[in-house]
Amino acid sequence: MTAEQAASSAVIGASGEELQEHFDATIARDQRIEPRDWMPEGYRRTLIRQVAQHAHSEIIGMQPEGEWITRAPSLRRKAILFAKVQDEAGHGLYLYSAAETLGADRADLTERLIEGRQKYSSIFNYPTPSFADVGVIGWFVDGAAICNQVPLCRSSYGPYARAMVRICKEESFHQRQGYELLMTMMRGTEAQREMVQDAVNRWWWPSLMMFGPPDDNSPNSAQSMAWKIKRHSNDELRQRFVDMTVPQAEKLGVTLPDPELRWNAERGHHDFGTPDWDELMRVIKGDGPCNAERIQRRRAAHEEGTWVREAAAVYAAKQAARAEKGVTA
Ligand SMILES: [Fe+2]
Ligand SMILES: [Fe+2]
Repeated sequence: MTAEQAASSAVIGASGEELQEHFDATIARDQRIEPRDWMPEGYRRTLIRQVAQHAHSEIIGMQPEGEWITRAPSLRRKAILFAKVQDEAGHGLYLYSAAETLGADRADLTERLIEGRQKYSSIFNYPTPSFADVGVIGWFVDGAAICNQVPLCRSSYGPYARAMVRICKEESFHQRQGYELLMTMMRGTEAQREMVQDAVNRWWWPSLMMFGPPDDNSPNSAQSMAWKIKRHSNDELRQRFVDMTVPQAEKLGVTLPDPELRWNAERGHHDFGTPDWDELMRVIKGDGPCNAERIQRRRAAHEEGTWVREAAAVYAAKQAARAEKGVTA
């Protein structure tokens, strides 16, 4: 039990059993758990892991598209991409703040990321060799993020759920900018249409893998669903993404690279092929095309930012000392 939990249990004079009952009843009533509330250690640890992985994904996710900021083909595209990548930084920061409400330390989370002890989404370990990749990332990757994250707006942990509301609004904007970019390219030259199709071919399967392993091989899912941290299984969300994306691909005029993809009237869903789960496992374990490069760059950025963090800490200490003396800045 943490000091905070001990204090809250002392205040209400409740036993461990009563606290657990209160927690279970709050979850059962679909109410939110807040930072001040007692929560089981497993719930706290699971959330810290999930929220930290999510935060890391937003931050690492700035890299594949960020590489195109200096090379965007027009000022308009540069401004859009700049804003989008900046949004992802903002998402990372909300999420690190949400993790802090659970007692995590932000510096420690960053250390874990750059030492490879905490993961981020497998999708950001793929390269972005053409500008069409920027469009396809917006369409597929931000689209998949929306499928994953909209249900998280009803997650049982208050700060996480509230961060998701704002993040989802921005993700839906990201998805549309990607699709609009691809629409523009598809109306362009034959070479541009080929670039779009090539990017679609490369990103389709890794995007399906973003939802994680199949349900029968997803060890943490059942507990997360019982705690209402997660609301839908990996396979349900993957299906939702496929059903959402197929008509968009038709409208755009591209082919999704799956010969097994077809509408199943009986199920009311599209059937689709099986992603290469061995590839997903390889990428998660650190052996994807860009894993080393992403981490190395994050580490370099962290080290280069040392003086900024030190300066900010000194400034904050000075402000605090002044406030103590009653002097206003
Ligand atoms: Fe994001
Ligand atoms: Fe996004």
